[in-house]
Amino acid sequence: MKAGIIGYGSMGKMLLRKLSGSGRFAPGDLLVANRTKGKLEEAKDIAVICDNGTLASEADIVFVCVRPADMKSVLEEIGPGLKSDALLVTLNGSITFDMIKKVIDHKTAKVIPSLTAEIDRSQTIVCFNELVTDSDKNNLRDLLGTIGEVIELPENEVGMGSELVSCMPGFIASIFDVICTSAGSHTDIPREQIVKMVLNTLSATGELMLAKDLSFDEVVERVATKGGITEEGTRVIYDMFPPAADEMFNKTLEKRRLTAENAGRSFEE
Ligand SMILES: NC(=O)c1ccc[n+]([C@@H]2O[C@H](COP(=O)([O-])OP(=O)(O)OC[C@H]3O[C@@H](n4cnc5c(N)ncnc54)[C@H](OP(=O)(O)O)[C@@H]3O)[C@@H](O)[C@H]2O)c1
Repeated sequence: MKAGIIGYGSMGKMLLRKLSGSGRFAPGDLLVANRTKGKLEEAKDIAVICDNGTLASEADIVFVCVRPADMKSVLEEIGPGLKSDALLVTLNGSITFDMIKKVIDHKTAKVIPSLTAEIDRSQTIVCFNELVTDSDKNNLRDLLGTIGEVIELPENEVGMGSELVSCMPGFIASIFDVICTSAGSHTDIPREQIVKMVLNTLSATGELMLAKDLSFDEVVERVATKGGITEEGTRVIYDMFPPAADEMFNKTLEKRRLTAENAGRSFEE
């Protein structure tokens, strides 16, 4: 099987590195294309560098890792030459199967990986259009399994799913950046050490909750004893954080809706 990656940006690079490292592809079976050719120089030892059209005519699975604004033109370019049994995979949550169908009526999957794929801990969202066969689904799930877990969702839930696994590393990083900065203003412990302490505790708390099937309430109850110090802090969080969390999702989901609207318009033109 040959896999092709169009768009050698953040996601394309990560996917190429991971597919190459999976041991499932000889360098000749990985193809990569990018608008700015110079960027591909560093990939020449692990993949065959080609143009979009050649890649589409040779690959059995084609990952299109470009931004929404570039999606339509890439699909128009590769559509005519795509192998009839190849699986087309787009990496954007705002581009719907209906939009894609206006350009190319082909078996298509949408895949939203997370940055945590870097350490093989992605929870990759995947959904399929009606033309994708069970065998294609299993192949893709198997391939994505090399970068972590695969979560299949209906197309209308891909947006919120993306918030929860693909945007979440950014949300988590910003929340704990705020917490570390605030902690720093109350102590002489160096920032670097504060960050390490918080991150290790964050990671261990998540592992503990998953391993022991603990709920958030149970963790809070175990740590925040009645009338104690932790309880003072958790009370502030439960009092003051909900409006910020609601506002965050209101804003991100609205932005997602506008991005999809703009993408839809670009597919009408
Ligand atoms: N970043 C994330 O965490 C993440 C997570 C899940 C999904 N996604 C989605 O994945 C897609 C890619 O995101 P990204 O962060 O990797 O974007 P990116 O870093 O901007 O990379 C996009 C790449 O596409 C290339 N490109 C643009 N037009 C092209 C064309 N006509 N032919 C070939 N290559 C072309 C660009 O080439 P140049 O070098 O010329 O600019 C660039 O290298 C987006 O739709 C995004 O929404 C991203």
